[in-house]
Amino acid sequence: MDKKPDIYRRELVDVQGVPLFWSIAEEWSQVESFEARPDDLLISTYPKSGTTWVSEILDLIYNNGDVEKCKRDAIYKRVPFMELIIPGFENGIEDLKKMQPPRLVKTHLPVQLLPSSFWKNNCKMVYVARNAKDVAVSYYYFYQMAKIHPKAGTWEEFLDKFMTGKVAFGSWYDHVKGWWEKRNDYRIFYLFYEDMKENPKHEIQKLLQFLEKDLSEETVDKILYHSSFNVMKQNPSTNYTTIPDFDMDHSVSPFMRKGEKSYTSFYTAC
Ligand code: A3P
Repeated sequence: MDKKPDIYRRELVDVQGVPLFWSIAEEWSQVESFEARPDDLLISTYPKSGTTWVSEILDLIYNNGDVEKCKRDAIYKRVPFMELIIPGFENGIEDLKKMQPPRLVKTHLPVQLLPSSFWKNNCKMVYVARNAKDVAVSYYYFYQMAKIHPKAGTWEEFLDKFMTGKVAFGSWYDHVKGWWEKRNDYRIFYLFYEDMKENPKHEIQKLLQFLEKDLSEETVDKILYHSSFNVMKQNPSTNYTTIPDFDMDHSVSPFMRKGEKSYTSFYTAC
């Protein structure tokens, strides 16, 4: 089926005060009624915070470090983006329904919009936070290369939208704070991108503890290597080059752009 140009660069639509892609807003009842399973693992992030990185690490953990198994499909098929619905083209919910458990589920929803079945089933959740400045820069490039977003405008215009929460998935401040406040009441493991850059092995070991999973040191080292920025940048199953150019134009900006941190820690940035 040919993509219609009118699905691109459309304005965001508010869902309970949070700006989302028009197509998610139109299909909101499907998202709201999503049926989570107790053995689902949710990966929740504000966009551009290291979602793909943590998703790859978790798929490698789930497959005991079997790198070939993790090349079975692109990351967005192995870890479906739950709420991403573009009628006739994409449906994260339908992809998840077809998956064998245990499922890895990606979301960018702020905590108040998460379908209630995740709370009812007491699912484990991994949240990744990244400092606002690096997120804003990364998001600016992503807005330009991924055409589902509205036009980014100039950097000054984009930054103003980012600071006032008028970008897709709303305010970064509300997102990181909302999930932080929920972490003591539910099984939420709250990670920082900056800590992963500083000592990825340590963060992988903490993830293993949270998942109550034991892997040999050799396997952990293998996971570390295969989830490193340079290896993921070259891997077609993680670098998003399998998405057609008319959806994501890598000549504007690659998905795996720099993968750097501007601050020693998340807290230094605050
Ligand atoms: P930059 O644009 O700053 O390079 P998300 O997956 O949430 O969309 O986040 C994308 C950001 O994470 C991009 O940041 C990307 O380069 C970075 N990233 C992806 N994989 C990474 C890795 N293995 N190590 C460090 N950063 C990574």
